[in-house]
Amino acid sequence: MYKLVIRPILFLFPAEFIHNFSFIFLKVVCKIPLVSYIIKYFFTLNNQALNKSVFNLKFKNRIGLAAGFDKNAFLIKELSLFGFGHIEIGTVTPKPQRGNNKPRLFRLNNKKSLLNSMGFNNDGVDLIAKRLKRYNGDCIIGANIGKNQKTLNENAWNDYLICFKKLFHLVDYFVVNVSSPNTPGLRSLLNKKPLSKLLECLQNENNKKKFSKPILLKISPDNSFSEIDEIIDVVIQNKIDGIVATNTSLDRSILSESNLDKGGISGNLVEKKSTEIIRYVSTKTNGTLPIIGVGGVSSYDTMMKKINAGATIVQVYTGWIYEGPSLIRRINKIMIDELLKD
Ligand code: FNR
Repeated sequence: MYKLVIRPILFLFPAEFIHNFSFIFLKVVCKIPLVSYIIKYFFTLNNQALNKSVFNLKFKNRIGLAAGFDKNAFLIKELSLFGFGHIEIGTVTPKPQRGNNKPRLFRLNNKKSLLNSMGFNNDGVDLIAKRLKRYNGDCIIGANIGKNQKTLNENAWNDYLICFKKLFHLVDYFVVNVSSPNTPGLRSLLNKKPLSKLLECLQNENNKKKFSKPILLKISPDNSFSEIDEIIDVVIQNKIDGIVATNTSLDRSILSESNLDKGGISGNLVEKKSTEIIRYVSTKTNGTLPIIGVGGVSSYDTMMKKINAGATIVQVYTGWIYEGPSLIRRINKIMIDELLKD
């Protein structure tokens, strides 16, 4: 139904417009009595066999919604009805910002991929914190944090710290995002010196708390293995709880269209690349560093490739757009069947 009827209609319109329209639509529709129950009934599958614990958090299942989908924590209650084991909001920056000029989100239909140059458009940490305060559901929520475009890289640590402090009591885990390709210069924060300073400063704050929160680092699929080695050293030195691998890719060699010069690629086109990075990180750390695998998950098979490469749980963004709202339930159903076979 989704692929045959709904998707072709939605895909007639520009991608960002449809994203925003669907958000308002879902928000309004879920206010109608019983609609939330019906969505949950059809799309959520709960079974203890699906539970997975990692960095002291118990996830209902292994598939979460990746950062960037609900940047503003506007729709967490409604999105959780679709069966996600966790939802990562953000990227959140201290001040609200509009992001890059539109159009900035494109579908690469024949590759089941997306190209985006959003640039951390978000409502800012204060408004997002207010929304999170109102959320009283039981879905695990992660906050993906970043810096404002205008903040110089040497002061970036302070932007991350502001977001960390303001969201500390409102989320279950944090992801430090220094790997988005759409904020100029951001990825240079993955270099050893600035990364050490940033992670050390966040961990110092974390350690002041009675109960600390897991902090993970989101890495890029475009780093070389030697760069990843350095990143892993810094991560281990600072007792970071895990890695999110990976963000979108700038690698144009995976694209057939040569005229698409701006933005990060997600979906099928990054599936292999991000799985290779997961395998590398897992091997390098002897499986001791938990990994959230993200990049091109669109089925049970693509999820298992990431898990077999070393990911403990996974996230999806682009695959959900192409495969439709029942994807999480379908994957979890196969997962249960496979677990029961063993
Ligand atoms: C993203 N992604 C992303 N990641 C992040 O850490 N912060 C962000 O704000 C965003 N924003 C964003 C917007 C859009 C439109 C897309 C498509 C993606 C990256 C996302 O979380 C994920 O890492 C990649 O998209 C790879 O996963 P998929 O899409 O292949 O499942």
